[in-house]
Amino acid sequence: MVKYIYTKLDRNAPCWCGSGRKYKQCHMAFDDKIHLAEMKGYEVPSKELLKTPADIEGIRASAKINIAVLDEVASRIHAGMSTEEIDQIVYQKTTELGGIPAPLNYEGFPKSVCTSLNDEVCHGIPSPEIILQDGDIINVDVSTIYNGYFSDSSRMFCIGEVSQEKKYLVDIAKECVEVGLKNVKPWTLLGDLGAAVHKHALENGCTVVREIGGHGCGKEFHEDPWVGYTTEPGTGMLMVPGMCFTIEPMVNLGEADVWQDEENGWTIYTQDGSPSAQWEVQVLVTEDGYEILSY
Ligand code: MF3
Ligand code: CO
Repeated sequence: MVKYIYTKLDRNAPCWCGSGRKYKQCHMAFDDKIHLAEMKGYEVPSKELLKTPADIEGIRASAKINIAVLDEVASRIHAGMSTEEIDQIVYQKTTELGGIPAPLNYEGFPKSVCTSLNDEVCHGIPSPEIILQDGDIINVDVSTIYNGYFSDSSRMFCIGEVSQEKKYLVDIAKECVEVGLKNVKPWTLLGDLGAAVHKHALENGCTVVREIGGHGCGKEFHEDPWVGYTTEPGTGMLMVPGMCFTIEPMVNLGEADVWQDEENGWTIYTQDGSPSAQWEVQVLVTEDGYEILSY
């Protein structure tokens, strides 16, 4: 089944990407290259996953809001506040800048942001009852819709004095994202990126959650491909310029196993109760590497 379907345009027709250039001077060689890779058996992105210059402008504008919202949280987060207050900050700042918080009502998610503390791996739901304590580590995962375009990134925050081991975990989780970034290279495989991230975590005595990963993001909140971080080298989708996805490994200090809160249907915890940390970056694959869209 051919996935990369493209209409063979006339060489002199305007390119499908909307650049205004002739097809032969724009995406013709590119289309042929993907087509050939697919014939050779590589998993390639469908055409819809490739962002046009106009899409990229739109995603950049969305990401600008996403970053501003995270900066606002960073300047105001403190011990003694509730995660509900973080939710209010995210809602207010996002809407003030003309955006919509993407998590709000997404598949029934009740809040504007995910706030995941300590042994919570991801999808923590803000609540007036959850008060940040000295020594907590928290992931604040912000996603924005602006003008129909989606952005998504998250950061860790250490509240007051945190233990050395929690600080260590937060640093390793960030290094894992940086290893991921170094492996965003066009015409290489996503499975190689995931394997490199996993290796870095394991070498530093940490584990990576297997079941949850990153995702394509831009025209939808969650697009293909799924981006795992415990993948095998030589597997996965070919990274192609114009693809946009997140790198967001969930790194645990203890075992990799997790469980899901059945009551709220969202929050994921570590099975052994050990702390978990996650940073998330949204990237665009470019001709010579990557562009960070949101971090
Ligand atoms: N940013 C999170 C992710 O991509 C959002 C999860 S969906 C939500 O995994 F509704 F829980 F926000
Ligand atoms: Co995400």
